[in-house]
Amino acid sequence: MTAPLRVLTGITTTGTPHLGNYVGSIRASVRASRQPGVESFYFLADYHALIKCTDPARIQRSTLEIAASWLAAGLDPEQVTFYRQSDIPEIPELTWLLTCVTGKGLLNRAHAYKAMLDKNAATGADPDSDVTAGLFMYPVLMGADILMFKAHQVPVGRDQVQHIEMARDMAASFNHLYGAGQELLVLPEALIDDNVALLPGLDGRKMSKSYDNTIALFGPRELMRKQIMGIVTDSRGPGEPKDTEGSALYQIYRAFADDGEAAAFAQAFADGIAWGEAKERLFERIEREIGPMRARYQHLIAHPDEVERLLLRGAEKARALATPLMRELRQAVGLRALTTQAAQAAGDAVAKVALPVFKQYREADGRFYFKLTDASGALLLQSLGFKSPRDAGGAVKRLQTEGAAALDALRELLAPTDAATLPALREALQQLVDASAA
Ligand code: TRP
Repeated sequence: MTAPLRVLTGITTTGTPHLGNYVGSIRASVRASRQPGVESFYFLADYHALIKCTDPARIQRSTLEIAASWLAAGLDPEQVTFYRQSDIPEIPELTWLLTCVTGKGLLNRAHAYKAMLDKNAATGADPDSDVTAGLFMYPVLMGADILMFKAHQVPVGRDQVQHIEMARDMAASFNHLYGAGQELLVLPEALIDDNVALLPGLDGRKMSKSYDNTIALFGPRELMRKQIMGIVTDSRGPGEPKDTEGSALYQIYRAFADDGEAAAFAQAFADGIAWGEAKERLFERIEREIGPMRARYQHLIAHPDEVERLLLRGAEKARALATPLMRELRQAVGLRALTTQAAQAAGDAVAKVALPVFKQYREADGRFYFKLTDASGALLLQSLGFKSPRDAGGAVKRLQTEGAAALDALRELLAPTDAATLPALREALQQLVDASAA
């Protein structure tokens, strides 16, 4: 039985969702969460919000608005795990364990932090002016979010890819230091969807709070109409053919329409539809999708107790995974009851001495290799060179989980093992399979 694919994503609770957030992330995530065989985790990243917002009322309000938006858009909290980051005390706890295995140099390279340094350099301010330790630590908190739930995939925008790579580094360091050959933490991957529509805003630039060009997602219906009427167009009058190319109005319509509707709208442009009428058609098209959700949104905003209850239930589900993992990690690093010390210390020795170990390394030829040695350091298996560390890691993973059965499939990637070593190799792989199943 293969474990279901785990997908996790967080939303920082500093704003109110707008139409661009809906098209760019909420809608696709809700759809993805309904796929069979996928376990989805969605959470409100309110600890992250504290890094950029010191207005308590805004944090609380945004948490409610974002939660209500996702629920209104169809996220089913029975099917997914939907929770608030600050309801999971294991997350800051894991943050600290990761902090202790994360190089400061790694964090120095984070884009958001470097951007602040650059900004300060440009204005001649102190390099660390306006840089809180929270901003500096942002990637570690995010790493804890992801690693806590052993997420395989994290759907993110390109700006966040570096953070996922850092989370991989943290997991690899942690496993290396404390895993004794086992994968205590899962190495996540960024999932970048380039097909996701980037919605233009009222002025044609990307819809963004920072440009003040947004259309409210679940504002009053009349506000939606008014905002749509404010989308910039050129000055062509009724009857004059209009370009869909470069038209924000058309692009927004496209994000809601199917191919047939889009073609009909493009035809109307060519036929010289008046801008006012085109806007009315856009409004009606968006309303068809958003209108039914708005009622649910308004209900939830008026009943924050319902949202609160759902989030607390989500936190319970999340903690049912986080608590046992945290217990295991505390044991692994040595935060243990003193009464278990003797037995556990013996256990460490057993784990470290008795288990065979994979070592991955890079050779001067630039390729990536691994080898398996037994507890005393004797070589059991030697790989050939891989182009990427991920390919090498993937082969190791297969051997660890499938054991000797994987040897045949991987034959062409491995140096031949002599017959005399083969029994010991099979035995060692079985030990690793048992250990990873334990
Ligand atoms: N940093 C993300 C953003 O600003 C939000 C976030 C916090 C997140 N923790 C996460 C996203 C974990 C994915 C996974 O968009």
